[in-house]
Amino acid sequence: MANILVTGGAGFIGSHTCVELIKAGHKIVVLDNFVNSDVESLTRVKTICVTDFPVEKGDVLDTGFVRSLLKKHKIESVIHFAGLKAVGESVEQPLAYYNNNVVGTYSLLSAMNDAGVHKIVFSSSATVYGDPQVLPLTESHPLSATNPYGRSKLIVEDMLRDLYKSDNQWQISILRYFNPCGAHQSGLIGEDPKGIPNNLVPFVAQVASGRREKLNIWGNDYDTPDGTGVRDYIHVVDLAEGHVKALESLSVGSGCVAVNLGTGKGYSVKEVATAFGNAAGTAIPYIIANRRPGDIASCYADCSFAKEYLNWSAKRNLVDMMTDHWRWQQNNPDGYSDCTN
Ligand code: WQD
Repeated sequence: MANILVTGGAGFIGSHTCVELIKAGHKIVVLDNFVNSDVESLTRVKTICVTDFPVEKGDVLDTGFVRSLLKKHKIESVIHFAGLKAVGESVEQPLAYYNNNVVGTYSLLSAMNDAGVHKIVFSSSATVYGDPQVLPLTESHPLSATNPYGRSKLIVEDMLRDLYKSDNQWQISILRYFNPCGAHQSGLIGEDPKGIPNNLVPFVAQVASGRREKLNIWGNDYDTPDGTGVRDYIHVVDLAEGHVKALESLSVGSGCVAVNLGTGKGYSVKEVATAFGNAAGTAIPYIIANRRPGDIASCYADCSFAKEYLNWSAKRNLVDMMTDHWRWQQNNPDGYSDCTN
């Protein structure tokens, strides 16, 4: 099997994808700068998979270093997770997002081109669809950005499409995630947000564990069945399996293809809070607060192309997501930091 470089492999989706790549028989090398992740996640990936693999500490912005890694490890393809991903933070620090996400990907692609590596799976996001004009979202929905994070993802997608047009030996898969949550069933790896979680499910998990007092529901006056925001939550292991399928779909002439990775089902904030409470055996106290700036009412995927093109569809449901997320939260109340102090 080919050697695969997983950038950002110590992160939430990266670490789960490492598990599925190893399970599928691939040899991996992880590159991570550990700014937003913990090397402990990789130690646990090795425990889950009963295997070892090289871990390189460094930054995709260091083109020379990346080029040397590609050659040293005889890399044949790259799965690129490394980047920043908090919408609110991107509004406050746009340059950090354009540097890490856009310049970082430019640097990686330059190193790949120099090293003759032309296969890449790119971690994109449903935020490239902007405020949905039609639901469910298909890959042909117009693209737009409503914040620097989403714009950085859109710029990289355009860079990849231009690169393929200039040289069709590139084989590129662009994966547009919806709302990842859940955790590996071992409870050993999971989402480990720093500080106050921006995203709904990790915040609700901390309410269930008593670490947070209550959930603020950002608005209940949206045009949705119960007035709260509707999103397409997808189990992180389903997402990881989708990456393995996308990697294995790369072949001569496969082109540059964007694929939605979602479930096709939308759940409201209240439905998620109720489902999590059921999984944790405790009610989730909440108050209705003002809308969060930039939020949209509803967002969920049309996943028919993923089924047709990758022969992939999500297998896990909302109960699986909440149950697995809760197991991770219970086993790791302070995330990976338990192990470093
Ligand atoms: C979900 C719903 C909130 C927290 C973000 C990124 C997106 C992607 C997924 C990377 C919304 C509501 C949330 C809370 C709440 N990440 N909410 N109280 O905003 O759909 O997408 O994460 O690719 O790029 O934008 O996810 O989990 O923040 O919010 O009421 O404390 O939960 O209003 O309706 P979002 P989210």
